Amino acid sequence: MGLGGAGFLALSVARLALGGARPVVSVAAPGIAGLWLLLNAATFLHTTRVGKFAVWAELLDRLGLRGDERLLDIGCGRGAVLIMAAKRLPRGRAVGVDLWSTTDQSGNAERVTRRNAEIEDVAGRVELRTADMRRLPYDDCSFDVVVSSLAIHNVPGAEERRKALHEAARVLKRGGRLMIADIRYAGAYARELEACGLTITDRRSLGMRFWYAFGPWAATRLVAATKP
Ligand SMILES: C[S@@+](CC[C@H](N)C(=O)[O-])C[C@H]1O[C@@H](n2cnc3c(N)ncnc32)[C@H](O)[C@@H]1O
Repeated sequence: MGLGGAGFLALSVARLALGGARPVVSVAAPGIAGLWLLLNAATFLHTTRVGKFAVWAELLDRLGLRGDERLLDIGCGRGAVLIMAAKRLPRGRAVGVDLWSTTDQSGNAERVTRRNAEIEDVAGRVELRTADMRRLPYDDCSFDVVVSSLAIHNVPGAEERRKALHEAARVLKRGGRLMIADIRYAGAYARELEACGLTITDRRSLGMRFWYAFGPWAATRLVAATKP
């Protein structure tokens, strides 16, 4: 997007310098397209470097954790949310499962996540496991909190995502809390979690700081639930 934006702007400036007929079309059109692409690139960059961390920090703080909980991050990737959670669990455990797809997240690897946890000084309370979110290798009712950020939409097919949601609900303890932030399918997630017997406590857009392009249609949405 950034390269495209810069290219269109350069074209617009070149045409302006050269002059010619119909400047509104030949100069303004690529100029507007260039600015639009740059705006989208800047929004994406801000979300991925700053906004996503700020929003998740607020979501985790709002949980009011005691600090001794067992938390599972489904599709933890390089540990953005997992490590923030571990910092709030001085006597607890933050467990991350992933298949480490480098298509879904660049530089994704278990050793990278482990290294990130070491750098952030929480490696002692972070546990990583290579596992498919559709078949979690954990007992029923074994986590106080389950979170997932931008991961479930990567599972292809509604039926396969349904399995992941059932697994998330299964491993959650009674009274436990679940939070999913994702760029697609929030409505389907909420319906499926309700079908699993969970109570939806919050469902909303996470705002401009979590937009992946410039516009509310590119918003990340939250689905939060509890297990009665
Ligand atoms: C876009 S990344 C998000 C990573 C991290 N949660 C974050 O917010 O930075 C999506 C992650 O989901 C993982 N993933 C995709 N399909 C998976 C599956 N079936 N089981 C476990 N993890 C999966 C990918 O490997 C990737 O790490």
